[in-house]
Amino acid sequence: MKQVSIALLGCGQVGTGLVKLLQQQRNFIERRTGIRLRIKRILVRDSAKKRQVRISGITDNIRHILDDKDIDIAVELIGGIEPARSYILKLLQSGKHVVTANKAVLAHYGSEIQEIAQRIGREVYYESAVCAGVPVIRSIKEGLLANRISLLMGILNGTTNYILSRMSEEGISLNNGLKQAQQYGFAEPDPAIDLQGIDTAHKLNILASLSFAIKVRPQDIYTEGITGIELEDIKNANEFGYVIKLLAIAREIGRNKLELKVHPAMIPKVHPLAAVRNEFNALYLHGNAVGEMMFYGKGAGAMPTASAILSDIIELCTKSLTYSHQLSHFPNAWGHKRIISMDETVSLHYLRFPIVDKPGVIGKIATILGNHNISIYGATASLVPVKKALGNVRVLTKKAKESEIKRAISEINRLPIMRGRAVIIRIEE
Ligand SMILES: NC(=O)c1ccc[n+]([C@@H]2O[C@H](COP(=O)([O-])OP(=O)(O)OC[C@H]3O[C@@H](n4cnc5c(N)ncnc54)[C@H](OP(=O)(O)O)[C@@H]3O)[C@@H](O)[C@H]2O)c1
Repeated sequence: MKQVSIALLGCGQVGTGLVKLLQQQRNFIERRTGIRLRIKRILVRDSAKKRQVRISGITDNIRHILDDKDIDIAVELIGGIEPARSYILKLLQSGKHVVTANKAVLAHYGSEIQEIAQRIGREVYYESAVCAGVPVIRSIKEGLLANRISLLMGILNGTTNYILSRMSEEGISLNNGLKQAQQYGFAEPDPAIDLQGIDTAHKLNILASLSFAIKVRPQDIYTEGITGIELEDIKNANEFGYVIKLLAIAREIGRNKLELKVHPAMIPKVHPLAAVRNEFNALYLHGNAVGEMMFYGKGAGAMPTASAILSDIIELCTKSLTYSHQLSHFPNAWGHKRIISMDETVSLHYLRFPIVDKPGVIGKIATILGNHNISIYGATASLVPVKKALGNVRVLTKKAKESEIKRAISEINRLPIMRGRAVIIRIEE
């Protein structure tokens, strides 16, 4: 039986899950592939720390992995940008294939890593970096290769989806939803990367690069998180037949332009993504041949993530270590599409204006919207139950350009009738 030696960089949540899964599946993998996988070295920050699994070969010196010619595949599970990026490049240069779960390093340095890997004939696999255990990368790379993908729309962050689900179903505040997510272990101790949409944008960056074979820089993606979402807006969405989700959207505009954005959006309750609740992830896409398709499953957690990592290791063993020609995880050649600015995007909008109740308030708001070519689909006013002099005007617009919405809202925010800033939530049908 062929033996393949592996090194892990990091043995935290995911690394521990991978060690456990490999122990559980070892015999099955050997029967299916004829390959025996052996974890030879594990790099950690603190080699004296007590581990949850029995492991050997622990080290805190990367040279023990770089200099070991017997190690064919290294799995980067440290996270963050540095030293993960430098280690990945050094591992490739020392002749190893790399598997990583690190969406941050791929979003920032994916094309640099790919260029170096391609130059020296090594592979970088990253199935677990998006939607963890749900095999979206392999499906786009291979299963959907014959398609022209025109739309990707995803719920790619379990923490924010869990919070929005609890707000919508239990009526709890965003902060309480976050506390629950932390108690159940979904959220990071510092959840800003989840809440501000940054984690979702990293994953969209990876998906868009692969689906459209283009280089995407983090600054190309308009990114807005969920911190501005209030219970009031969740209730209003429900009343209008929508739910609010943090969406990652990549949409082709004509043949050569692309819209890339992450923001909370109202989607109809009947949309396939509306049924994705709690910590689950989903990716909805449109391909010219397959039509609509949706992937759904657990987008985080040690074992789902380990499942995707182990599949990458096995694919590397059965393909790259055996054959010289195979389909890389990165495009062979990058194409070009102009990524349009957020100001150029066009969308339906829900607008909420917190106002002081005075005659003619709706008229004033409607006039300014009209001056900016924004047509109103429907408008209602309601009073705050206890404080009768205060209220909200809710407006649903027809399709309007983002730049016009911004200008109109900035004008309305300056009116003396406003008791707070207007809330803007885009609607995806
Ligand atoms: N957790 C998930 O559900 C999930 C899902 C998908 C993808 N991911 C990705 O998987 C990766 C790992 O996540 P995780 O949750 O397993 O992280 P984690 O629990 O924080 O583990 C990080 C590991 O890296 C080691 N490490 C940190 N800095 C190091 C350094 N400078 N040198 C050597 N070792 C270092 C740590 O060593 P010590 O143990 O000695 O501290 C620890 O073993 C990240 O890129 C994350 O985004 C995670």
